Amino acid sequence: MEHIEYHPEIIGATTAMVKLRELVSQVAPTPSTVLVLGETGTGKDLVAKAIHQNSLRKNEWMITVNCAALPPDLIESELFGHEKGSFTGATERRIGKWELAENGTLFLDEIGELPLAVQAKLLRALQEREIERIGGNEVIRTDVRIIAATSKDLAEEVRQGRFRSDLFFRLNVFPISIPPLRERKQDIRLLAAHFLKKHAVRNGRKVLRIAGKVIKILTAHSWHGNVRELENLIERSVLMTPGPVIDQVFLSLEDQILDSIMVGNRVKTIDEVVREHVLQVLKLCDGKVAGPGGAAQVLQMPPTTLHSIIKRLGIQKVYAE
Ligand SMILES: Nc1ncnc2c1ncn2[C@@H]1O[C@H](COP(=O)(O)OP(=O)(O)OP(=O)(O)O)[C@@H](O)[C@H]1O
Ligand SMILES: [Mg+2]
Repeated sequence: MEHIEYHPEIIGATTAMVKLRELVSQVAPTPSTVLVLGETGTGKDLVAKAIHQNSLRKNEWMITVNCAALPPDLIESELFGHEKGSFTGATERRIGKWELAENGTLFLDEIGELPLAVQAKLLRALQEREIERIGGNEVIRTDVRIIAATSKDLAEEVRQGRFRSDLFFRLNVFPISIPPLRERKQDIRLLAAHFLKKHAVRNGRKVLRIAGKVIKILTAHSWHGNVRELENLIERSVLMTPGPVIDQVFLSLEDQILDSIMVGNRVKTIDEVVREHVLQVLKLCDGKVAGPGGAAQVLQMPPTTLHSIIKRLGIQKVYAE
C-alpha cells in the first residue's frame, strides 16, 4: 500500500531528513507503535504530531502524557485512571489518558523517565491492549495507537537497570532517530529561512533575509539545543534587528545578558534601562539625591538634572512606595 503525504512542517533537505520523512510516511498509516529518539530540541514532538496527522486516526485525539512531569505515584493514575475511593484523595472516578485516547493516539513523552513500577503496568497494557483503572475490577479493552519519545539512550537505561528490557523491545518496534542539528549542518540555512519567515510574520515585521556572514557563523555553531535553539535565536534576531537584513549574530550574547536587555519578547527602551539604573542607585544611596553620597554625585550629574529624570520617569513615586 502506498501512502505518501507531504509534511511541510518537517523541514530538512539532508539525506537524513529525507529518510526521516519517508519513515514517517511509511509508519503513519499503520497501527504500529513508534519510538521517536533524539536529543532535546531535535523535533520529537513534531515527528509524533506528523505521524498522528498522517494516520487514519487524524480526526481523533492525540493525547500526550509527559512521563517526566509527574511524581511516580501520580503517573499511574494519569495513564490508567482510578475509581472513586481507590486511594486517599481519590474522591471521584478519573478516566486516564489511555482511555481518553481511545481510537486515537497516545503520545508518551520522556518515556525514559517512567518509574519502574509503572513500566510493568505499561508493558501489560501494550501487550494485552487492555487496561484496568486503579481500584477498578473491570478490564477495559482499548484501541489506542502508541507513540513514545525519549532523549535518553534507552538501551543504556536497560543496561543500568533503570528501564525494563521487555518494555524496551515492545516499544522499539519502529524506532525513528532524529539526528542532532550539528550532524546535518546543511539544513541550518533552510531551517533559519523557515523560522525567519515564521517570526517575521508573527511580529508583523519585514525582515527579509539573513546575511551570508551570519549564516556562516550559524553553520559553525554546535547547536546543543538543536532546532529549538536555532528557532529561539532567529526569533531573537528578528526582534533585535530594525532593518530588513539580519547582519549581526546574537549567538555570542549569553542568555543572562539577553535576559537583562529584554522585557517580555521585546528589547527594553533606553528610558526603561535608565529608570532601572537610577532606581538601583537611589536604593544604594538610601533615596538621597543631592549632597555628598547622594545619587547625583554617584551618577556624576547635577542634582537638578537627576531630579528632572526622576520626575520624567516617575521614579520618585515607585521608590517612595
Ligand atoms: N525539522 C524541523 N522543521 C521545522 N521545525 C522544527 C524541526 N525540528 C524541530 N522544529 C521546531 O523546533 C522546536 C522544537 O521541537 P520539538 O519540541 O519537537 O523538540 P523535542 O525533540 O520534542 O524537544 P524536547 O526533547 O526538549 O522535548 C519546535 O518549535 C519545532 O516545531
Ligand atoms: Mg518534546
